[in-house]
Amino acid sequence: MLHNLFWSVFTALPSEFDFEGIDLCGITGIVSLGRNNIGEILVKCSRKLTYRGYDSVGVAAVFEGKVELRKDVGTVDAVDRLLGLSMMKGDRGIAQLRWATYGPPTKVNAQPHFGCDEAIYGAHNGNIHNYVEYRRELVETGHKVRSENDGELCVHAVDKYYEQTGDMFEAVRLSTRDLKGAFSFAVGRADAKEIYAVKMGSSLVAGVGNNETIASSDLPSVLPVTSNVIYLADGEMLRLTPDTVKVYRVSDGRELDRRPEITTVDIHTAEKGGYPHFMLKEINEQPKVVQDVMGVLQGSKSDRWLKLLEDASKLYLAACGSSYNAGVLGAYYFNRLAGVPLVTAIGGQFEQMYGHTLREDDLCLLVSQSGETKDILNVLNLVKQQQTGRTLGIVNVIGSTLMFNADSYIPMACGYEVSVPATKTYFSQTVILAYLATMLGERNGRLDRQEARRVIGMLSEQLPALAQETIDRTAIIAKNLASTLLGVKDLYCLGYGLTDGVAREGALKIKEICYNHCEGMYSSEFKHGPLSIVTKNYPVIFVTTAEDSWMVINHINEVKCRFGRTIIVGEKENTLEPYVDNATDYLVVPKADILLNPMLDVIPLQLLSYFLSVNLGIDPDLPRNLSKTLTVD
Ligand code: BG6
Repeated sequence: MLHNLFWSVFTALPSEFDFEGIDLCGITGIVSLGRNNIGEILVKCSRKLTYRGYDSVGVAAVFEGKVELRKDVGTVDAVDRLLGLSMMKGDRGIAQLRWATYGPPTKVNAQPHFGCDEAIYGAHNGNIHNYVEYRRELVETGHKVRSENDGELCVHAVDKYYEQTGDMFEAVRLSTRDLKGAFSFAVGRADAKEIYAVKMGSSLVAGVGNNETIASSDLPSVLPVTSNVIYLADGEMLRLTPDTVKVYRVSDGRELDRRPEITTVDIHTAEKGGYPHFMLKEINEQPKVVQDVMGVLQGSKSDRWLKLLEDASKLYLAACGSSYNAGVLGAYYFNRLAGVPLVTAIGGQFEQMYGHTLREDDLCLLVSQSGETKDILNVLNLVKQQQTGRTLGIVNVIGSTLMFNADSYIPMACGYEVSVPATKTYFSQTVILAYLATMLGERNGRLDRQEARRVIGMLSEQLPALAQETIDRTAIIAKNLASTLLGVKDLYCLGYGLTDGVAREGALKIKEICYNHCEGMYSSEFKHGPLSIVTKNYPVIFVTTAEDSWMVINHINEVKCRFGRTIIVGEKENTLEPYVDNATDYLVVPKADILLNPMLDVIPLQLLSYFLSVNLGIDPDLPRNLSKTLTVD
């Protein structure tokens, strides 16, 4: 795993640091002996998870055999001021910070949740992929499901098996049979001293303090209680009592011998999952983003989206920054997989370029991780005011203006992206666009069912591991290459065909966080003017696929015969080998299907810009002049 590599490069973090991928919220459960101010410590610990996102927050506290539940939308501090969370009495309880993926951020969707009655309480993080059908099953069997939040189903699942077994341990263990997806949850009963937690694909760590124990989504929220921690593996569960944390295997309930270890990780390192910067953490979360977003796409009722696409006479896409670059790749997918043109435009140019050509049966895809980019909201308002077409948002921030106002929206399910330069959100957008193009292609007959299943299978089964392999294989090469580019202030990044948008994204990353001029453009266009800049050692990056390298070597030659320096990103290929002078100039990605090539090619470019930025003494998470979301024109 890459983190071992980084410890030799960046910090000497102990190997027990277990990197979890995406989690979309943060849970904290504490059981204490003698405390009666459980709200105070739960809020203090939850505040340490704010970097994971904060649409809403809640606390369930057990006091004198009754569970009190207070929750609302807003940050920890705002809701604490509103509801007095830290004043809640009790000796045990669960808190949850929610980053919405399913269901908008509302009071009723906030966590924790009750089960059918108010005797059982709990909260989750992650995604329940069978949310739609399991919610229906619970309601049909008489469960009182109050919200649209998938986390509530975890509590009802435990409730269901508690009714059958009368045993909380068994109920928690058996509940995981009903729940599909990547999640962890904590749950307790008013009449039981202990709290239980389960790890099924999302992070969970426990701590043994002084007369109190804690289970949480992430280490930062454990540290205020103790540094004596136990890391869990998937398929494990734990029972918290005031003085012990016992770990069990979910499959057979067998107790496992897990002793707590003192961690030396400080809280700031822990917030970044042990990585030096959020950007590096988020690059490494990309394999899990693929799993999560494919789980959401395949678990959702995507008919609604596909009908919008199918009924449209013309498809447009408007986006900005990295989201636009993802849209460019999307256009190639729509052409190739659906045989349908997807007309792309940068948000700010859309009205001038297409405002008068839009018709009422057109569809506008609006791709925006924040859902608040003003350039995109301008397009949304234009389409609505002119009543020329429908809008389909592809958005990460649930509860954003785009989410609420588009005719429909697709959640990007990436979790909270902290770093200003987009990485995992760009990756999620390319996966969603490939998925939509494939599903549309199947519906309009461009793809037969078998081919469509093959592509969807590649996205959900192969891409996560290939993305991880790409990270592991290219990180050190990208780091070494970055050190050879320290003096470079000007370069090009060229793509062809499916890597057109990828090259633009690689160039944008270098511009955003290295403060260099790097132009992303089409490689066949380079000879029509920009080639004049090439002199000895002038660097030009070529982003290639196995399908187009025969063409791209012509463009590479145009640079090499003028003694320019060519840097190649792509699979190991004989056609390209003669054009690589040394190992650092060949960022080799794993062999993969042509459709996955462009998705993998972006990773070494993200890593190259990251290492170059750090080498230049820049904080890649907070580049000067930029902001995560621009709500201005
Ligand atoms: C810029 C960000 O302000 O907006 C980029 O710095 C981002 O990272 C662009 O790609 C578009 O943002 P959004 O939220 O509309 O995808």
